[in-house]
Amino acid sequence: MLSPLVVLSLISSLLQPAVAVYIDMEGLPDTGLNTSSWVTGVLPPLDDLWDTNDFQIAAKNVLSGAYYADYRTGALNEYTYQANLGIYSQVKLNGFAFRDVSNLQTNTTILGYNFTQPFFIAPAADAGHANKSAEASLAQAAGKAGILYVPSISSTLSIEQIAAAGVDGQVMFHQEYVWANQSRIIDELDRIKAAGFKAIFLTVDNTGINGVRTRSMRFNAESDTGHSVNFNLNSLAAFRNLTTLPIVPKGIKSWQDAVTCLNLGFPAIYVSNHGGRVLDGVPTSVEILMDIRQNAPQVFDEMEVYADGGVRRGTDALILLALGARAVGLGRPPMFANIWGEAGVARMISLFGTEMATSMRLMGVENVNQLNTSYVNTNGITL
Ligand SMILES: Cc1cc2nc3c(=O)[nH]c(=O)nc-3n(C[C@H](O)[C@H](O)[C@H](O)COP(=O)(O)O)c2cc1C
Repeated sequence: MLSPLVVLSLISSLLQPAVAVYIDMEGLPDTGLNTSSWVTGVLPPLDDLWDTNDFQIAAKNVLSGAYYADYRTGALNEYTYQANLGIYSQVKLNGFAFRDVSNLQTNTTILGYNFTQPFFIAPAADAGHANKSAEASLAQAAGKAGILYVPSISSTLSIEQIAAAGVDGQVMFHQEYVWANQSRIIDELDRIKAAGFKAIFLTVDNTGINGVRTRSMRFNAESDTGHSVNFNLNSLAAFRNLTTLPIVPKGIKSWQDAVTCLNLGFPAIYVSNHGGRVLDGVPTSVEILMDIRQNAPQVFDEMEVYADGGVRRGTDALILLALGARAVGLGRPPMFANIWGEAGVARMISLFGTEMATSMRLMGVENVNQLNTSYVNTNGITL
């Protein structure tokens, strides 16, 4: 059943003479996407889309300026946002011949749970801005593909609605913020556990405040985050007493913080600059992983490390995995793909999986857990 708004937009598109849509591609790699048959504000055929960048352009064509800016924005000059996208071109992949790659394995474990892929859907607020199915379609697409989904605590749907949307037996983790309101934290942690989520990604990179996101502020002034401003190591210790679920600090940007988390006994850390949306000018995950390896290599042996930021191609994911990440998060791509709901997210996951598997074969890597630093050359990057 089409909503009246969609029907109206279809009728108006039929009445208008077909005019090729001009969409500013924002300097994304030109892979020949042809938008000449697209109509502004109308979903293009899903078959037109072949990579995560295509999904971004399609979302730009369909979403309101405010909603697109909200998903797309970085902080300040977006140096970190752009660096996230660009850093992968500075890493060379080493491909090895003479290897049997007939039995390709992409499956892995994350905190001991089995998944078909080492990439997951990262927490991102307000999925309902793209599609009324909101986080439900992300949960379903992830569940059917066997990959991890970690909904944001600032989701459109409730904790319970997202849990109920998952497929039978699906394992999901949940993101949480450090709210100033302690009883809110206690209530949410209890509900997350009761709803069946298996772990908490605790975001620690924007305590008190979000980045100044100029691109989205042009539409909506930032409001108070409600995050605690005085969150320190004591509060972190106290937070751990509030739940029996494993906690993974998200937003680690330095080897020093990685070591702190290791010494405090966390099972994993999540290296991230929040998609360039918080502090502009911080390093990319490639650089942070290299820095941890240089200064505290024990981190990779003694805990799991996840990473994200600007991952748009299967090869980007392989680079982070080779640098020591056990799993890699995708933030914006699933949000953009969700303009089609589950079908869009499913196609994005499938295309991304194919890119990763194909590139593994071409590199001579049969099992994703064999990836290590011998598969990448980072000489072009100085820390
Ligand atoms: C629209 C949007 C909303 C986000 N909301 C959250 C959030 O609620 N909690 C959080 O920890 N991270 C949030 N993030 C950051 C993502 O989890 C992730 O770190 C980042 O998007 C990865 O970069 P990428 O978008 O280039 O893949 C958000 C990112 C976007 C794009």
